[in-house]
Parts: sequence; structure tokens; C-alpha cells
Amino acid sequence: MVLQDLAAEAMDCLWSAAERQSIELVGPEGTLEDTLSCGNSDMLIRALVNVLGNAIKYSPPHTTITLRLADAGAEGIALHVVDQGIGIAESDLPRLFDPFFQAAEHDGAKAGVGLGLSFVKAVIERHGGSIRVTSEVGRGTDFGIVLPRA
Ligand SMILES: Nc1ncnc2c1ncn2[C@@H]1O[C@H](COP(=O)(O)OP(=O)(O)OP(=O)(O)O)[C@@H](O)[C@H]1O
Ligand SMILES: [Mg+2]
Repeated sequence: MVLQDLAAEAMDCLWSAAERQSIELVGPEGTLEDTLSCGNSDMLIRALVNVLGNAIKYSPPHTTITLRLADAGAEGIALHVVDQGIGIAESDLPRLFDPFFQAAEHDGAKAGVGLGLSFVKAVIERHGGSIRVTSEVGRGTDFGIVLPRA
């Protein structure tokens, strides 16, 4: 499995959703052809679709979401999903991956139950990886997923 290909598939899934909201999807930037350690590519794509879907859901129109590949050294390969959306308060970050948790900035009108990220975390960790987030309210969010090389 090549992370670049998984990212491209996830982008294909959400291309029209982004377009409907006038959000531009850019990338994946950076070329990393390293092979990932074996795993379930369908589950990984579903996890990436969740993260990218959140980025779309929590961003206003006329913003950009960038996918970026990066070398994470001994940890493996990283994929960052960087949005220019509503952001997440620092006080919410520790609970972000808990089932049913929705952050304070969350607009009640947006459908969802708060299960997406707990699924994502479970899938990534099952593959020996990790997920981390940096964010600034009103500026945007950067989800970094790191997966081990083969
Ligand atoms: N890219 C993002 N920008 C801002 N807030 C985010 C972003 N991604 C997640 N969040 C916040 O984290 C919360 C949890 O995300 P999660 O995907 O688990 O749930 P959800 O999107 O609300 O519902 P579901 O994924 O189950 O449909 C969201 O409700 C939202 O408040
Ligand atoms: Mg979600």
C-alpha cells in the first residue's frame, strides 16, 4: 500500500462534496513512494475519508484543504490534512478522539454524532500508527496521521 494512493482515493470520494461547498482540495503534496506495512486498505481509506470529511464539514466556503505527505523518520510516513476551518479550542483537544465528543465550536446544524474520529483513531492504531492534531480557533486545523513503513 502506498499512502499517496490511499489519499488520492479518499479525495476522489469527497471531491464532489467539496465542490458543492466551494472548498478546494489540494494535493497530495510531496512525493513519498515508500510502501506502508501491510494492512486493510479499505479501512484506511474510510479513516482518511472521515478526516477529510470533517475538514470539509468544519470549513467555510472558499477555503482550501491541503493534503501533504511528509517523512516521519523512524515513525514512518505522515499524511497531513490541513484546513482553514473553524478550528478546535485547546481545551477540547484531549477529548477529541473520545466517542460521541463534539467540540464547542461545533455548529449544531451540522449532522453527526461524534463517532468519526474514535473510528479513525482505532483504525490508525490497529495499523501501528498514530494520529495527532494541532489547531487554532478561527484559523484551521492540521490532522497528522503517521503510519509505519513496510
Ligand atoms: N477539521 C475539523 N475542524 C474543526 N473541528 C473539527 C474538525 N474535525 C473534527 N472536529 C471536531 O471534533 C468533533 C468530533 O469529530 P468526529 O468526526 O468524531 O464527529 P462528528 O464529525 O461530529 O460526527 P460523525 O463523524 O460521527 O459524523 C466534531 O464534532 C468537531 O467538533
Ligand atoms: Mg466526523
